[in-house]
Amino acid sequence: MTTFGYNTSDIVGRLERVLPKGLFEHCHRVSGIASDMGLRFGCEKNVVELTAWVHDVCRHERGERLISLAKDFGIPVTPLDERAPVLLHGPVGAELLRREWGIVDADILNAVWWHTTGRKGMSVLERVLFLSDKLDPTKDKGYSQNASVRTRSQSDLNGALLEWMSAQVGYQLSHGETIHPSLIDARNALIIERG
Ligand SMILES: [Fe+2]
Ligand SMILES: [Fe+2]
Repeated sequence: MTTFGYNTSDIVGRLERVLPKGLFEHCHRVSGIASDMGLRFGCEKNVVELTAWVHDVCRHERGERLISLAKDFGIPVTPLDERAPVLLHGPVGAELLRREWGIVDADILNAVWWHTTGRKGMSVLERVLFLSDKLDPTKDKGYSQNASVRTRSQSDLNGALLEWMSAQVGYQLSHGETIHPSLIDARNALIIERG
């Protein structure tokens, strides 16, 4: 148990002022989903809710702005990021939260940093945020696996995560899309962990 030194209602008020309405509502829904999921899998309620609230602090920024902030922050920008700068909103968001929002907990910042792609060896908080973000019902149209993953996530966090990632990799392969190496790493790690 860590000491929780954040005033979530102040942070939510600030988010409401800076985020577009639709994005703020997404963060609100994700905080509810993550809170329930976190309760099932051992996360601290105030930590998981705050993490979900702040996870998309940069999602509304334009691609050029994300690339320029990433360069300012010393975050590596890969050719994949150049092609799809939205991939940078997690890393840039995490760095912004650390620099400008006073959020210093490594687990919270890592969860924000990796919430788009996942990574090898994710913490429980990282897993819960990744999945809760994808399971926002407004994303169901884009992710046909969501109904099945949502059911599985009631009892099996890692199985749900693996199912979601496998479906996503399959979709991207079959549509000739790029696949982020961190997503591959995350999926491989889950399979190795499962044994
Ligand atoms: Fe996001
Ligand atoms: Fe999100």
